[in-house]
Amino acid sequence: MQTRRNFLQNAAKATLGIAVSGSILQDIASAKATELNAATLTFSQVKLPFSYAALEPNIDALTMEIHYTKHHMAYINAINEAIVAEQIAENSEEQLLANISKYSPKARNNAGGAWNHNFFWESLAEKPSQPSEKLVTMINTAFGSVDKFKEQFAAAAASRFGSGWAWLILDDSGNLKITSTPNQDNPLMDVADIKGIPILGLDVWEHAYYLHYQNKRADYIKNWWNVVNWKKVNERLA
Ligand SMILES: [Fe+2]
Repeated sequence: MQTRRNFLQNAAKATLGIAVSGSILQDIASAKATELNAATLTFSQVKLPFSYAALEPNIDALTMEIHYTKHHMAYINAINEAIVAEQIAENSEEQLLANISKYSPKARNNAGGAWNHNFFWESLAEKPSQPSEKLVTMINTAFGSVDKFKEQFAAAAASRFGSGWAWLILDDSGNLKITSTPNQDNPLMDVADIKGIPILGLDVWEHAYYLHYQNKRADYIKNWWNVVNWKKVNERLA
């Protein structure tokens, strides 16, 4: 038979048990929430908006296939590994890029590689298009003319030492600027010398052109203009 003392002791233990259980449950819930936050950010490849051979002869089919299925896929896999390993809990790809200095070189290189290539595929098209009136006006204001813009952009792409990217960006004041970044950095990253919103980007890593153009990066850049998806660039500006 339970005495009053036993009853109180048991009641206290029960209360403590509930408290302990509650605390454990809270810990589990909190761990789950962290896991969920981390899991919400997963990079994936955009579907290539054309066939591998669609941009021939400007970009050859084999380069396009290897670039998309091997190089880009490797960046995607590696950033998703880094997100788990480093418990990265940023809410979006762009927010991760804006805070990239907080993370490892693996996260920086592969978040950039994953994001940049998705942006690059969507900047290309097999059907020709033209810059919008709005874009042409802004290009004229910033660079003098579309031809001068192309010259300056090509120069930035050609002179990027080693591997990297050339960019047309909108800066904080809403003006167009040309910039370039090393490796897989981009202008959305807090580590970029010149920051802004990318409107157009060109991959000048050798893997983007070497099979077809070998050392002739300038020829690759010249022919790349033939497959720029101006329709998409116009949309990014709108
Ligand atoms: Fe690339």
